[in-house]
Amino acid sequence: MTTHTFPDNFIWGSATAAYQIEGAAQEDGRKDSIWDVFCRVPGKVINGDTGDVACDHYHRMPEDVALMKELGLQTYRFSISWARVRPDDAEFNPKGIDFYSRLVDELLEAGIRPWATLYHWDLPAAIPGGWTNRDTASRFAEYAAKMAETLGDRCKDWTTLNEPWCSSFLSYAGGEHAPGHTDPREGLAAGHHLLLAHGLGVEALRASLPEDTNVGLTLNFTVPDPADPESANDREAARRIDGIMNRFFLDPVFRGEYPADVLEDIAGLGLEEHIAYGDLKKINAPLDFLGVNYYNGGAFTGSPDEGPAAQGEANGLRKGNPNIGSEWVQGVSRDLPRTDMEWEIQPDGLRRLLVRLHEEYTGPAGIPLYVTENGCAMPDQPDENGFVQDDDRVEYLRSHLLATRQAIEEGVDVRGYFVWSLMDNFEWAWGYEKRFGIVRVDYDSLVRTPKASAQFFSEAIKSNAVKEA
Ligand code: FCB
Repeated sequence: MTTHTFPDNFIWGSATAAYQIEGAAQEDGRKDSIWDVFCRVPGKVINGDTGDVACDHYHRMPEDVALMKELGLQTYRFSISWARVRPDDAEFNPKGIDFYSRLVDELLEAGIRPWATLYHWDLPAAIPGGWTNRDTASRFAEYAAKMAETLGDRCKDWTTLNEPWCSSFLSYAGGEHAPGHTDPREGLAAGHHLLLAHGLGVEALRASLPEDTNVGLTLNFTVPDPADPESANDREAARRIDGIMNRFFLDPVFRGEYPADVLEDIAGLGLEEHIAYGDLKKINAPLDFLGVNYYNGGAFTGSPDEGPAAQGEANGLRKGNPNIGSEWVQGVSRDLPRTDMEWEIQPDGLRRLLVRLHEEYTGPAGIPLYVTENGCAMPDQPDENGFVQDDDRVEYLRSHLLATRQAIEEGVDVRGYFVWSLMDNFEWAWGYEKRFGIVRVDYDSLVRTPKASAQFFSEAIKSNAVKEA
């Protein structure tokens, strides 16, 4: 059994997001985010679940940090709820800000490096037009500046946005996430405004954070393969998915321009109307890292002459299509094992992704990568003590960590890995049905019980190494 040791500068952590774990939705001045509103619309979230209580992390934060310490986490990636710190898009809320200040202190006390994400999808509902409104980007910069001012003396790692693909295309064109719209034009407007928010956010953060602070962005990626590499149509389908999911966000950030082929794919849908002079320069602001979220790849087929593909109804909730300009593209099921989300398990996709990002985007810019999310939902079965022997999740984590290690071996500058997620939580449109945690949460008692995967992860951290299965 070969053991693979990670470099000394590699850090190990876990990730969560405010709306998915905090609860206390109406407490200490917090007001609705677009997710609170969305959850109340019948049929949007499975079982009508909401984040009202979630894991009750807002009240159990010290206990949760103690658990992280016990597991040996070296860093913790959390998100700040904009709706908690600036409720109703009005005055900043000292009580809301204080929660994150206490969280940062608690983490530092436990020897854990706090890693803040400013936007993980919970936009204050009061902002008119949401991300279709250009002004939302400026409001984001004000919020970023305020947080930097209050936490910047202690928190050294900052991420502007988590997965803008989800908060634009999946939310405004796909209809699956808040606010649940199904208009491709709105999707593109939101995509550009989120990128602009990132650029303005970087500027605001840099203006008040000390020099030694890291500022970056987290994107979600897929690794699209043509279903049949010999088929020109399938290769075109894979190119389109790569364009709209990956390069639509990567190219403006690292090259200061939207990719020409994607502009052609989405021609006539009005993106240009939203791009003002100077926007791309701002979006292209130099970064200190790129965060990579990877869960699965996919194989794609279809033909532009066939018209829009039927949308999957797996969760009975999907209504629009996030593949703007490429609605005819269809995913094809490959002969690969799957998680409880039905996502294919393909660890080598992570290796390929890291190598590609390093070669084409971050390597030339000299900036490191961090795997800021990776993990899986599995059909966990607790025993009478609430313990889950989740060997399937252990193998998922092991294989993806080894894929990360392999990328490093191949020369990619990867500096850390955050497991998604510390604990089971509110999985957006899937409510509490899908469990991603390495710690089980009993939603009746709210008791936390580390799973076998938590033990595995803890040992990996301690030894800075992963053994082959
Ligand atoms: C990512 C999200 C995260 C979680 C995982 C499963 O897209 O960033 O909040 O829902 O997927």
